[in-house]
Amino acid sequence: MRQKLIAGNWKMYKTIPEALQLVKQLRTKMEKNPPAKTKVVVCPPFTALAAVSETLKSSAIGVGAQNIFWEDEGAYTGEVSAKMIKNAGAKYVIIGHSERRRYFKEDSQVINKKIKTALAHKLHVIHCVGETLEEREQELTRDIVLNQVEWDLKNLAVADLKNLTIAYEPVWAIGTGRNATPEQAQEVHSFLREILDALFQPGVGKKMTILYGGSVKPENAAALLSQPDVDGALVGGACLEAGSFWKIIQASEKAG
Ligand code: 13P
Repeated sequence: MRQKLIAGNWKMYKTIPEALQLVKQLRTKMEKNPPAKTKVVVCPPFTALAAVSETLKSSAIGVGAQNIFWEDEGAYTGEVSAKMIKNAGAKYVIIGHSERRRYFKEDSQVINKKIKTALAHKLHVIHCVGETLEEREQELTRDIVLNQVEWDLKNLAVADLKNLTIAYEPVWAIGTGRNATPEQAQEVHSFLREILDALFQPGVGKKMTILYGGSVKPENAAALLSQPDVDGALVGGACLEAGSFWKIIQASEKAG
């Protein structure tokens, strides 16, 4: 059985007091009604990592960061290392988000280095892939995700995949309110498993947790999460409020 996972990517939202209010509300809901099969992870901004981790210390909710730099320390103004986020309580890290690719010009070489660094520090990586609208319209979706998986995960060992979760996030669905249809998500997720089999080892693809991300909301979560190859979600906007995030967690509990 693959691990179901609902992760919240807070992006550049929430001060420390706002962050603590949100995770306390979430923790209360989780304690009242603990999910039986869904792992829940929150990824606050760096500034709130330590405070959120402290607040969630004895809870079932995991904590992750949204990025790291690939060196442990040094003269890299403005960057944060794997060692630092671990020290602040993070066990997960999102790498390769399309917003990092787009606004910060991260390419596969950079993403590959960051993934290797995160794995070397025993962090669990949530690795994002996905095509733009233009690429989808040109029917390039498969080429794009194949390319991203191949180069972002270059020289990783099969054993590394245990600490890696892929999130398929079509760029056109992020923050637009226009989610991929369950069928579109299913098709790419199933293809991602084929890619993993071909690049790493036959059979490895079906063991991996693959998340869908892009306008996941309480209203569409059940349909997306009921697809056979969709194991969870990476949620943006709807994770910023405990009530809507909780509904998505419940949808995961009810799905398949
Ligand atoms: P939205 O849920 O706001 O579309 O964001 C998705 C996302 O980018 C999660 O990483």
